[in-house]
Amino acid sequence: MPKEIPVIHLIAAARPNFMKVAPLYHALKREEWCTPVLVHTGQHYDDNMSATFLRDLGLPDPDIHLNVGSGSHAEQTAGVMLAYEKVCLEKPPDWVVVVGDVNSTLACTITAKKLHLPVAHLEAGLRSRDRSMPEEINRIVTDALSDLLWTPSPDADENLVKEGVSEEKIVRVGNIMMDSYEMLREKIEAEQTLKTFNLDPQTYAVVTLHRNFNVDEQENLSVLVGQLLAVSESIAVLFPVHPRTRDRLEKYEFWEKINSATNLHLTEPLGYVPFMSLVRQSSLVITDSGGIQEETTYLDIPCLTVRNNTERPITISKGTNRLVQPDAIAQAVSDVLQGNWQRGVRPELWDGRTADRVASSLREVV
Ligand code: UD1
Repeated sequence: MPKEIPVIHLIAAARPNFMKVAPLYHALKREEWCTPVLVHTGQHYDDNMSATFLRDLGLPDPDIHLNVGSGSHAEQTAGVMLAYEKVCLEKPPDWVVVVGDVNSTLACTITAKKLHLPVAHLEAGLRSRDRSMPEEINRIVTDALSDLLWTPSPDADENLVKEGVSEEKIVRVGNIMMDSYEMLREKIEAEQTLKTFNLDPQTYAVVTLHRNFNVDEQENLSVLVGQLLAVSESIAVLFPVHPRTRDRLEKYEFWEKINSATNLHLTEPLGYVPFMSLVRQSSLVITDSGGIQEETTYLDIPCLTVRNNTERPITISKGTNRLVQPDAIAQAVSDVLQGNWQRGVRPELWDGRTADRVASSLREVV
């Protein structure tokens, strides 16, 4: 009997996962030694949080859809575990590849390991050392259980070694999100989303905010709204609003106030290509996202991260990122506009060729 071709599950769940999974999916699809199977847990399900990204990134409809949806952390994690266990019991894959740090990353890792299936984690080793963030818990558990850890930067390798991960399991591959950018560079550069908002290049700031500590409490959100209105007095602000944030802005009755400001444009969440086209041509970005800290470093765009810490310190030491307190955003923007910010260098191996390195590493173990 000829040996069967190994089946690799690629787990995608939420918006930030799709640009990590897509380059690897395409790289593995070109190979004959394995069959990639795209598994979507359904953590994000709105068209503009999921399907648009699949389309933009050339991903097919998922081979397997778990349709888990929203819920508390326990409900969501447990929902993915229950659904994914059934899938694995019915037809176990040879390897499971998880990416990033969302609840589904953790859920699929635990499920697979309890069924003795090998797991590889792409974007391993990042640490904020802030266990009040759900993503930090997800990272720690996922890395502790994974058999193969693909890291984006030397700090990630060091974190893993300090936590006792054996060095043979760690492979530095670089940052796969830059592969997505390079894959779509032509489309991104041709895209003119800024015209929709009557904006010219380098005359506006892009804002994204969705972390619970920024948007869930009325008091914190009120500070942010005040700061964004102040920023909009010196530069146009474009703010694609995450569903969680929209919900809180409406609930606390900030939506109308912010929506009626002349220089502040609220919009639905945008697809990958339009969003990156706006970031590329912006003067600066204000965010609490993980990935955008990296994308701005890659593009040499000033980034103000509204958080107390970052799991991506290389974007500060080498890149264009700065941490900023919520009440100091307007001041930081004014500093940036006066030219007071650090130019970035691209970290090593953030070169658009990470997916090939991941594929070679995987080939050695399957
Ligand atoms: C999740 C990730 C976070 C990532 C973010 C990117 C975890 C712990 N968090 O946070 O790391 O930065 O995705 O977006 O996994 N909702 C919709 N439609 C959707 C998805 C969500 O309306 O398609 C709403 C729901 O009301 C939901 C809320 O947004 O309760 C939050 O969604 P959830 O997936 O729980 O977390 P995110 O805040 O999106």
